[in-house]
Amino acid sequence: MTHKRIIVFSLFLIINSCDFIAFASDIIPKPNSKIITSGEFILSNNTKINYSDDFKISGDFLMDYIISEEHVEEYVNKINFIKKNIKNDEGYEIEILTNEINIYSKSNKGAFYAVQTLRQLLPVEFENNKTKLFKVNIPCQVIKDSPKFKYRGMHLDVSRHMFSVEFIKKYIDALAMLKFNTFHWHLTEDQGWRIEIKKYPKLNSIGSYRDSTLIGHYTDKPIKYDKTRYGGYYTQKEIKEIVEFANSREVLIIPEIEMPGHAQAAIASYPYLSCRQEKIGVATTWGVFEDIYCTRESTFSFLEDVIDEVIELFPGKYIHIGGDEAPKKRWEECSHCQNLIKKEGLKDEHELQSYFITRMEKYINSKGKKIIGWDEILDGGLAPNATVMSWRGESGGIKAAQMGHEVIMSPNANLYFDHYQTKKEGEPVAIGGFTPIEEVYNYNPIPKELHENEKKYIIGAQANVWTEYMKTSEHVEYMVFPRILALSEVLWSSNSTNFTEFKLRAENYFERLEKLDINYSKHLEKEEIK
Ligand code: ACM
Ligand code: ZN
Repeated sequence: MTHKRIIVFSLFLIINSCDFIAFASDIIPKPNSKIITSGEFILSNNTKINYSDDFKISGDFLMDYIISEEHVEEYVNKINFIKKNIKNDEGYEIEILTNEINIYSKSNKGAFYAVQTLRQLLPVEFENNKTKLFKVNIPCQVIKDSPKFKYRGMHLDVSRHMFSVEFIKKYIDALAMLKFNTFHWHLTEDQGWRIEIKKYPKLNSIGSYRDSTLIGHYTDKPIKYDKTRYGGYYTQKEIKEIVEFANSREVLIIPEIEMPGHAQAAIASYPYLSCRQEKIGVATTWGVFEDIYCTRESTFSFLEDVIDEVIELFPGKYIHIGGDEAPKKRWEECSHCQNLIKKEGLKDEHELQSYFITRMEKYINSKGKKIIGWDEILDGGLAPNATVMSWRGESGGIKAAQMGHEVIMSPNANLYFDHYQTKKEGEPVAIGGFTPIEEVYNYNPIPKELHENEKKYIIGAQANVWTEYMKTSEHVEYMVFPRILALSEVLWSSNSTNFTEFKLRAENYFERLEKLDINYSKHLEKEEIK
């Protein structure tokens, strides 16, 4: 037993001796209630796992996780997956008795989360080998658990830097382990278009590659470039494979196709999509760019065709259409855009953006899907059925909730994992900002400004991982872990306590991350600049 484990274990005993229900458990995110009873269940190769087709995903996961290849004839105890009408679809109960473990849930979702909890009651060795030591005593207990928020998301930008299919699966796998249910996949940008669109092959032959990439921070002077071609894209076959993997982890993927801004890679591929219709390159530096989609009919035809292919690939109900950081300079200078403003009786370019988004929403709604947009979609009037992702602080989210729209909180001050996590020297270059893990842990997605009847519109929260300064998957992991542990608890746990107690469990979790070959930062403290 390591020193850290002893500390956590002792805390567990102390608290339990005072009060059977209160506990400091290792489990992250912390379950709502966990009551230790007497006796132990002995998990071994002689444990039978019983599950029907309703629980196939969870049962298969558990089989794969704990059972070694050895064939066993004789079973001495069992784990049963049992349907129970638990109020929350993602909720579950685990009853660990001496002769059986019963996992109760309404659907596979709850059962899957029960398995993720059970996983944390086992030695970390299970993470990377089908352990031969294989006789594990699990204390008898009853766990009752359900999520606090229904939207628990993590984002990843694969346009500024791209990551392998294997890494995308590893990322989704880690999300699922921490009971996140949504992966927001940011697939198009100024610096690269990363999804295969068969009807528009130049999006991939031209738009998926840039000639060069900025070196250092984008505020450095003079600006330097590496002059190396960079890029790639995910084929539709690969995307299907990733979607299928995500299904097996109860993770919904929300694809993001940015519009009307952050569209330079698309415009580089098809210049007719822009107001000036001039040839430009895929962006090689970071920031916000003036060339955005024009509002001609040909742009809408293009985007509808793209959406048609996207909808075929992603079975979820949401399509994210961006909407952020779209400078209006080109529209101000464009005779077509100005005529459209007059024709539609719009006040200005902000209302033209609202027209753009609302028109795309109508199309996407007609296909049975809903849109999500960054909070700029509020400017000039919010599309009628849109869900708002509030990133420029919380004010956009508050406004949208007051209008009765669903909101996902993702404020940059609290939930941007591209920010520095410590002020200590020696950190890899980041975009800026300062979001230590404690800030993430203490974040409450429900703003106090909202009235009781408006709070229900905050469906959850998400952390964003913009990858301008993350060239490798190891670097992505370093920025995400351990801050994601804190966010998982914000989103899942109704009875989390305080950062000091959480920190012990987070430290204890590091061993699991190591076994999973996940790179992580050890910054749990808020160090100040020397
Ligand atoms: C954003 O960070 N531009 C949504
Ligand atoms: Zn135009």
